[in-house]
Amino acid sequence: KVTKEFIYGMPKAELHIHLEGSLEPELKLKLAKKNNIDLGMDTVEAIKETYQFDDLSSFLDVYYQGMEVLQDRDDFYNLAMEYFKTAQKHNVKYAEVFFDPQAHTTRGVAFEEVIEGYYKATQAAKKLGIKANLIMCFLRDMSAESALEHYQMAKAYQDWILGIGLDSDERDNPPLKFAELFKMAKNDGYKITMHCDIDQKDSIKHIEAVLYQIGAQRIDHGTNIIEDQSLVDYAVENEIGFTKCPVSNRFVTGDLKSKEIKSLLDQGIKVTINSDDPAYFQSYISDDIYTLAQAVELTKAEIIQLAKNSFEVAWISEAEKKNYL
Ligand code: ADE
Ligand code: ZN
Repeated sequence: KVTKEFIYGMPKAELHIHLEGSLEPELKLKLAKKNNIDLGMDTVEAIKETYQFDDLSSFLDVYYQGMEVLQDRDDFYNLAMEYFKTAQKHNVKYAEVFFDPQAHTTRGVAFEEVIEGYYKATQAAKKLGIKANLIMCFLRDMSAESALEHYQMAKAYQDWILGIGLDSDERDNPPLKFAELFKMAKNDGYKITMHCDIDQKDSIKHIEAVLYQIGAQRIDHGTNIIEDQSLVDYAVENEIGFTKCPVSNRFVTGDLKSKEIKSLLDQGIKVTINSDDPAYFQSYISDDIYTLAQAVELTKAEIIQLAKNSFEVAWISEAEKKNYL
C-alpha cells in the first residue's frame, strides 16, 4: 500500500499547471481589496461555493472572472510565488508553468506587467529549490491574429519563455487554426504543446492534427487518444509526453478518466500527472497522483514511473534529467 506521505515526498516535475488556475480564494480576496475590485463575495466559503462546474466552459467562465483581481506585476509575482511555495511542499523540483497573457491584456493589463511579475517569481523559486520555466499559452477561442499580436509582444522576452501552448475553449477551435503561428514558434526555437481536452467534439481529429501536422512534443490531456490505436502507437514510438490531470477531469466531465490513464500508462505512453488549476479543483499535484492511485490501485513502481516520466518529458537537457532521475 502506497502512502500519501510517499507520494508527497517523491521528487517530481509539474508540467501542466495554469498559474491563473492557482489563484486561491484567500489571495483573490486580498487582491480584490488591494485593487478595489468588488467581487460580490467577501468570504472564502462564498467563493468556494462558486467552484462547481459541469463542463469546460462553465469552469472557464469562473476562471476568467477570477483573474480580474490581477492588476500589476506584484500581483502576478505573488500569485506565482504562492504556487511555488505550495509546490515545494509537494517536492516539486521542476515546473513548467502556463500563463494566459490574452486573459490580462483584454482587461487592459499590460503584457509587461504579466511577464515581468511571473518571470521574477521563476527566479525567486530557485531559493525554494525549484527550477521553473514559463509556457505562454494562446487562447484558442480568440483569433489567430490576436495570438500573433501577442507572439510579437513576447519577442522581446523570448529568453524568458521556454514554450508555447494552446488552451481555453476547444469547441470549434481546432489546432490547425494556429498552424502557421506554431510553425513559426517552432522555427524560433520554442517548445510546443497544445491542450486536447477530454471528450471534445473533435477530440481524435485534434489529437491527430497536433501529432502529425503541428508536430508538438507534448499534449495536454489528450486522453481520447485511447480510441485510436494507431495514434497510441505513434505517441509511444515518438515518446510524446502526455500531461494528465485526473481531478480536473472529474470537475469538467464527472469522471477522473483513471482507467483510461492507467491503460495509456500500461501501453507505454509517457503519462504524467498534474494539477491543471489546483485552486479551482482544490487538488495539488500529489493529491492528483494519490486520487488516481486510489482509483486504479497503482503499484509503487507505477507511481514512481509517473514521476520518472515527468522528468523525462520535461524540456530540460539530458544532463539535467540525470540529476533528477
Ligand atoms: N485553461 C485553464 N485550464 C484549462 C483547461 N483545463 N482546459 C483548457 N483551458 C484551460
Ligand atoms: Zn490545462
